[in-house]
Amino acid sequence: MALVACPTGSIGAQAHHDAHVGIDSFPEPLADNVYYCGFNAESSFGAWSYLIVRPDAAGGNVLIDSPRFASQLVKKIAAVGGVKTMFLTHKDDVADHERFAARFKCERIMHARDGAARLGTEKVISGDEAIEIDPDLIAIPVPGHTRGHMVLLYRHKFLFSGDHLAWSPHRKSLIAFRRACWYSWDEQTRSMQKLLNYDFEWVLPGHGRIHHDHPASMRKALRDCIEWMKTR
Ligand SMILES: [Fe+2]
Repeated sequence: MALVACPTGSIGAQAHHDAHVGIDSFPEPLADNVYYCGFNAESSFGAWSYLIVRPDAAGGNVLIDSPRFASQLVKKIAAVGGVKTMFLTHKDDVADHERFAARFKCERIMHARDGAARLGTEKVISGDEAIEIDPDLIAIPVPGHTRGHMVLLYRHKFLFSGDHLAWSPHRKSLIAFRRACWYSWDEQTRSMQKLLNYDFEWVLPGHGRIHHDHPASMRKALRDCIEWMKTR
C-alpha cells in the first residue's frame, strides 16, 4: 500500500512485490462509509485524499481533495458510484481536480480566496461563515494556512482538515503546521477556535496523522492545541 500511495514512487524493496495487492487495497475503509484514497499526488505535495460513499438520495459520493488520476483508482471510484461533489480544502491540494471533474461531472467546491474562480470550480464559497452544503456536510472557512482554506465536517463526526489541523504522533497532540503556514498564524489560531463550536470524532488531515477520539476528548485536545498555538 505504501508503494502505491507514495506520490513520487520513492519506496523500494529488495523483494519483488505484486503491486496489485496494494492497488486493490484502495480506497481503504477507515470508518462507516469513509475511505482513504491512497494514490497520493506529487502535485498535491503528497497530501492524503478521502472518499465518502453515499447513495445519491443521501447526496452522493464526496471526494475530498485530489488523489492521482490513476486508472485503477478511478475505476474503483466509478464502481461505487463515481463522484458527485469534490471538496477542495485549499489551493495546494487540487492536483488532478480537472480530470476528476471531467470524468465524473462532479461539482467542485472551493473558497474564493484560494483562487476557486481561476480554477474553474463549479461552486465558489466566499466569506467566513460556515455553509451547509447538504444536511450532512458543513464547509467551514478556516483562513490561516492559506487565505481560503476550508475544512469539511461530515455528520458531526468526521472533520476533513486539509492542512489546517492534524495529529502529531511525536507530541501526541493535535497540531497545526507552524513552518508551513503560508498566510497568517494569528488567523489560523482564530480559525482553530471556531472549531470548538463543533462536535467531531475524527480528524482526517492532508498531512500528519489521523486522529480518532470521543468528541469531548477531541474538544479538549483542540483547546490544548489552541493554547500551544498561542505560544508559537
Ligand atoms: Fe497546504
